[in-house]
Amino acid sequence: MIDFHTHILHHIDDGSHNVVESIQMLRMSYEQGIDTVVLTPHFHLGEHQIGPWLEERQLRFDQICQYLTEDDKKHIPRMIFGAEVEFQPDMNHWDYLDKLRINGTNYIMTEMPFMPWTGENIKVIDDIALHTPFTPIIPHIDRYMHTFTPEKYIRHFLEMPEVIVQMNAIYINGVHNVPFYKPMIESGQVQILGSDCHSPEWRQPDLGMAIRRLREVCGDSILERIDAFGREMLRDAIYQEV
Ligand SMILES: [Fe+2]
Repeated sequence: MIDFHTHILHHIDDGSHNVVESIQMLRMSYEQGIDTVVLTPHFHLGEHQIGPWLEERQLRFDQICQYLTEDDKKHIPRMIFGAEVEFQPDMNHWDYLDKLRINGTNYIMTEMPFMPWTGENIKVIDDIALHTPFTPIIPHIDRYMHTFTPEKYIRHFLEMPEVIVQMNAIYINGVHNVPFYKPMIESGQVQILGSDCHSPEWRQPDLGMAIRRLREVCGDSILERIDAFGREMLRDAIYQEV
């Protein structure tokens, strides 16, 4: 299975604190049956500039590689560069969106505001989806479902074929959430999954448990469909050499 949302790279955002934690998170993921992870550190326009941020992402990855043992290399998922791009009202006009996509693909993870969405927010994402070469991924849809965002906006993305929707493992692992996520996953409105892991302890890699839960709740065929969908998305992805 593929983990589309991780903060495994250290010292670039609020995720992993050091190389040891990063390698631990990679090994934990692999033990849970995750063979591919997309590395999605936060990109916040207010804090980051694209050039230095890209260099830092590469540097953190290179540092992890320096510390990987031969045994580690056999027990970690394959990695692809990506980003979790904080929503900005003009992001549909950025000339460097291509630098922030999942490497080799046209998918770009757009983190929506954590305050009630407005029609203007929706228009920006729609514009990326409909008028640029890029396909937005709305990360952790579950985190927006319980804010004051009007339900019609959540539904808009769930029903829009030009936008991909990702759900976090932690939501699937909550037993009381079954009635909410089951129809969204079975209908294919939520297409991909992620752990959104930040450390080996706090917000740890937990996608393996979510996959087991989904098998029980939705059955094998749904899991197969999610896996196949993700692999198709990553058909042209560029994997990092370790
Ligand atoms: Fe995240």
